[in-house]
Amino acid sequence: MNPRPLRYPPINPRCPHLLHGGDYNPDQWQEMPEILGEDIRLMKLAGCNALSVGIFAWAALEPEEGRFDFEWLDRTMDDLASAGMYAVLATPSGARPPWMAQKYPEVLRVEADRTRRLFGHRHNHCPSSPVYRSKCGRINSLLAERYGKHPALLVWHVSNEYSGHCHCGLCQEAFRDWLRKRYGTLDALNRAWWSAFWSHTFTDWSQIESPSPQGEGSLHGLKLDWRRYTTARTVDFMKTEIAPLRALTPDVPVTTNLMGFFYDLDYWKFASELDVISWDSYPEWGSPQGDVEVGSRTAFAHDLNRSLKGGRPFMLMESTPSVVNWREVAKLKRPGMHRLSSLQAVAHGSDTIQYFQWRKSRGSSEKFHGAVVDHAGHEHTRVFRDVAELGGVLAKLDEVAGTGVPAQTALVFDWENRWAMDDAQGPRKFKGYDDACHAHYHAFWKRGIPVDVINMDCDFSPYRLVVAPMLYMVRPGVAERLEAFVKAGGTLIVTYSSGIVDESDLCFLGGFPGPLRGLLGIWAEEIDALYDGETNTVVPVAGNTLGLDRSYEARELCELIHAESAGVLATYGRDFYAGRPALTENHYGQGRAYYVAARLDSNFQDDFAGALAKQLALRTPLDGKLPEGLSVHIRSDGAHDFVFLMNFLPVENAVDLGNGGLEDLIDGGTLRGTITLPGFGSKVLKRVSQK
Ligand code: GLA
Ligand code: ZN
Repeated sequence: MNPRPLRYPPINPRCPHLLHGGDYNPDQWQEMPEILGEDIRLMKLAGCNALSVGIFAWAALEPEEGRFDFEWLDRTMDDLASAGMYAVLATPSGARPPWMAQKYPEVLRVEADRTRRLFGHRHNHCPSSPVYRSKCGRINSLLAERYGKHPALLVWHVSNEYSGHCHCGLCQEAFRDWLRKRYGTLDALNRAWWSAFWSHTFTDWSQIESPSPQGEGSLHGLKLDWRRYTTARTVDFMKTEIAPLRALTPDVPVTTNLMGFFYDLDYWKFASELDVISWDSYPEWGSPQGDVEVGSRTAFAHDLNRSLKGGRPFMLMESTPSVVNWREVAKLKRPGMHRLSSLQAVAHGSDTIQYFQWRKSRGSSEKFHGAVVDHAGHEHTRVFRDVAELGGVLAKLDEVAGTGVPAQTALVFDWENRWAMDDAQGPRKFKGYDDACHAHYHAFWKRGIPVDVINMDCDFSPYRLVVAPMLYMVRPGVAERLEAFVKAGGTLIVTYSSGIVDESDLCFLGGFPGPLRGLLGIWAEEIDALYDGETNTVVPVAGNTLGLDRSYEARELCELIHAESAGVLATYGRDFYAGRPALTENHYGQGRAYYVAARLDSNFQDDFAGALAKQLALRTPLDGKLPEGLSVHIRSDGAHDFVFLMNFLPVENAVDLGNGGLEDLIDGGTLRGTITLPGFGSKVLKRVSQK
């Protein structure tokens, strides 16, 4: 165990507080100066201190090619500074003006079907276009030169929600270059892609094309590399955006707003280029899934963002103060939910609460998206009061800023693994990787056990327990590092569908789980896919080391394994494989490696997590069982713990705090014993750290 630090410097030492604010678009309101003045008054009233400006403002900044207008932004920056607030200043590459697309069509993206986009929408540039790169470089330099020393400048917000693929000729060339660097020779590439299959052997680099509905769709190695390349290309584009900012303003931290488990980009590749991680979170509160489920999934995404930079606090760059307008149903946040969902982000490591958007735009597609200031234009609204109340709460939590989360458990979520698994035909069309990861996570979340969300390249040594569901791909060195982790006393959980392919998506020969076979002590011979609604049972072996004592339901995937050095803890109850192992435990060095051979129900997840938590003495914020729907999460600086109590049920929920006495940071006073939280209630408590 080599625990991670629990104390981090502020995002920018110029403002050592939790940040509160949101996307602010003064460029839309230049013809109504009275509104701009009102904005500053309302921001102060709402307890805001940091506003994101200029995100989609290119047309206002460069109304025609080479003619720049910074006056309006000067005024905004000055107004923020004079009011004691800061700017999270954006580079405008998320959208571009029509003149640019008209004069230089190459800045527009080409889709997989090889048609070039027309001007419109946003987030659709070509990352290879030399014109776009140079235009971005120029405007970013001008912004950094002009505002580098401005007292309002706090953080750079680079572009907006990078996404998507471009299939233009320039990007095809860049893909081939990337492949040349990765493989060196076509022979090596053909071998890695198993291209003899269906006569795909490439004899010239120019024959290689990105996947397309009317072209390549079956060569898994190519598809996987195209996804890797797209991440690499996007990161490369981001680096060219960042370069002038770093050169001119080396002390101003840089971020770009990510999107949780967004499918197309491997965010681990972004992390090292950024000073602080930020992300945009839009949970579907109030949906039929129920807020407990939504709460747990949101926590999972917050934990990923905290883990991306090794446990360092992140920024919640966007969230809605009320509704999102892009779903089927735009449900209002229920009373209490705004404070609860915001404090949840802080509980899991965010040092900011920012919104999309400060003020509702008057026209176009986001005019009905939630905002702090509605079209009514004043502070006498329910939403404004909720935001202002939160502003007051955050102001009482200064000491939480910069603290860490003492996680002893890590869950492996890996983008390349997900892509490779989803490409595979069989054993079921829908693989359910994300849900399988979340099912394991949920059992810890319910207990208040903090979890880091890492990928397979991360250091395992800070943890007591590593959970690696569906570790289908095992990249070089990973098996050895897992072995070292378990040998040194760590506990590992691996499940069905693991150790199947290498980093090129080629199956391991000689028996699954490939390089993990010795560590897990099993051989996985076949996997049975079940139809929806079909089940099997898994029955614990009497006297098993985990104390499991009820049967569980298996669904969707049941692997047929042989225990080699592993001991059997549970077996299948039905079908031709009744009696064969379904859960095993292998002693390896000082530690243990468990193999869960089937997709099991939530009772199993609960019992399994509970047994391991006990066995490994995993730290929980409160002793005793937590009631359903109540989430407890902890931040700590090593000396003090900040215990967040969050009720995701719409009705009262009681929790036992024990007799120690915890300071209530929001309402004051000391709390002990059993306390009751109202529906969607939330509290932040402080105590001396318990080692
Ligand atoms: C994204 C974007 C914002 C806005 C919101 C609306 O997160 O970054 O510009 O469109 O969605 O929810
Ligand atoms: Zn392109």
